Amino acid sequence: MANDQLKLQAIIAHCKEYGFIFPSSEIYDGLSAVYDYGQYGSELKKNIRDYWWKSMTQLQDNIVGIDAAIFMHPTTWKASGHVDNFSDPMIDNKDSQKRYRVDHLIEGYADELEAGGRKPEAEKLLAAMDALLATSDFAGIKKLIEDNKISCGVSGTANWSDVRQFNLMFSTQLGSVSEDAGEIWLRPETAQGIFVNFLNVQKTGRLKIPFGIAQTGKAFRNEIVARQFIFRMREFEQMEMQFFIRPGTQKEWYEHWKQVRMQWHLSLGIPAEKYRFHDHVKLAHYADAACDIEYEFPMGFREVEGIHSRTDFDLKNHQEYSRKKLTYFDPELNQHYIPYVIETSIGLDRTILMVLSEAYLEQDLSTPDKKDSRVVLKFPPRLAPVKLAIFPLVKKDGLPDVAKTILSECRGHFRCFYEEKDAIGKRYRRMDAIGTPFSVTVDYQTMEDQTVTIRYRDSMLQERIPSNMIREIVEKQIL
Ligand code: GAP
Repeated sequence: MANDQLKLQAIIAHCKEYGFIFPSSEIYDGLSAVYDYGQYGSELKKNIRDYWWKSMTQLQDNIVGIDAAIFMHPTTWKASGHVDNFSDPMIDNKDSQKRYRVDHLIEGYADELEAGGRKPEAEKLLAAMDALLATSDFAGIKKLIEDNKISCGVSGTANWSDVRQFNLMFSTQLGSVSEDAGEIWLRPETAQGIFVNFLNVQKTGRLKIPFGIAQTGKAFRNEIVARQFIFRMREFEQMEMQFFIRPGTQKEWYEHWKQVRMQWHLSLGIPAEKYRFHDHVKLAHYADAACDIEYEFPMGFREVEGIHSRTDFDLKNHQEYSRKKLTYFDPELNQHYIPYVIETSIGLDRTILMVLSEAYLEQDLSTPDKKDSRVVLKFPPRLAPVKLAIFPLVKKDGLPDVAKTILSECRGHFRCFYEEKDAIGKRYRRMDAIGTPFSVTVDYQTMEDQTVTIRYRDSMLQERIPSNMIREIVEKQIL
């Protein structure tokens, strides 16, 4: 089993080898922090997105989904505060010209301290950083970096510029002739598509507060330090929900959504000790309370989801900038007001990395007589890219025809995979490597009594079942 430092590298290599995730435009040597999902990665991604969508819309009484465009009127981002505030403090190393987000630079150094057995110093350093960031004391941050002799990974020197703010939004031109073209932004979060549609959805859906609007979709950020595979990307996907509430009730709803979202994480079969809440010290420009749900990735505890109490910041500003009334009439209070908002915001790609990290297992299966091992992805069946593999034992004597009949009976209900090539053991191992929870083999006995061998991925146990039970067994595990 690879240790934690090597585990991320092993996952990256496995994802490439088995068609989950490739570097973008790899034939041109890739594009930094941009990735493409392959045949199994895209299925896994879709399954996670669908699971989130179902939990957050279909299974809720009062949450509906939308799909807003990526391009939005540029004033959206003025109103949301992103033009003025969506920036991170950065520092340049004057020798290598490399630019770092100061919190990532300091956190990286703290990780090194911790790995070297100097945990108390690492904690003290992070606490000092949090305090300085909370007051935007950039001179203090620079001094902290210099006092700790934190150096650049490329030049090895500590020859730093002053700390400056750097906006993370990408811009592009809308219009066919460059002179008439207007500058617009690629959305850095999906949330604003929900805010600008708040009244459209509330009125057409006749929704009463409290209610929510959910959406999944691409977001873009010009991350300066983009690394750790799909953990921090420049183009990524978010799954967000804005929950509209009465002003003054935000504390209760914030706690409510913290609990609901943690339950969702636990429902993925991931143990509670792999998660923790992390309260924000420095709040985003729109929030009056915020925390992250952190998961213990191979590189340590890191944010996977944010829960934010966004007050009426967004709707109030959109009302002001658009000069369109965005108030809600509360029939119970007989009052008009701008609702407050609790947001849950989870990165789909980060969730994929979390699910992969949890599922990836290198297993030693050696016996005294024989060395053996396998790599298995123990995905929860409902998230697995392929649910059922169907194998004829041999390519003759009518076995493929029977196997293909099973395939045609099952493929309309869930994703199946059919293969005739290679020894059966090899075929099972390939299914382990992509995380297929069930494999069935059609053999000569099938021709006599219509039973097949079903093999379970995690236990590797095999049993004989009537072939007309296959669908039921699989469906029980994936619904
Ligand atoms: N609307 C609120 C918002 O966008 P955020 O904490 O900036 O909040 C929410 O982002 C989630 O989006 C994060 O918890 C993370 O999972 C994901 N995310 C943010 N930046 C990302 C990036 N560069 N690459 C991958 N995922 C990212």
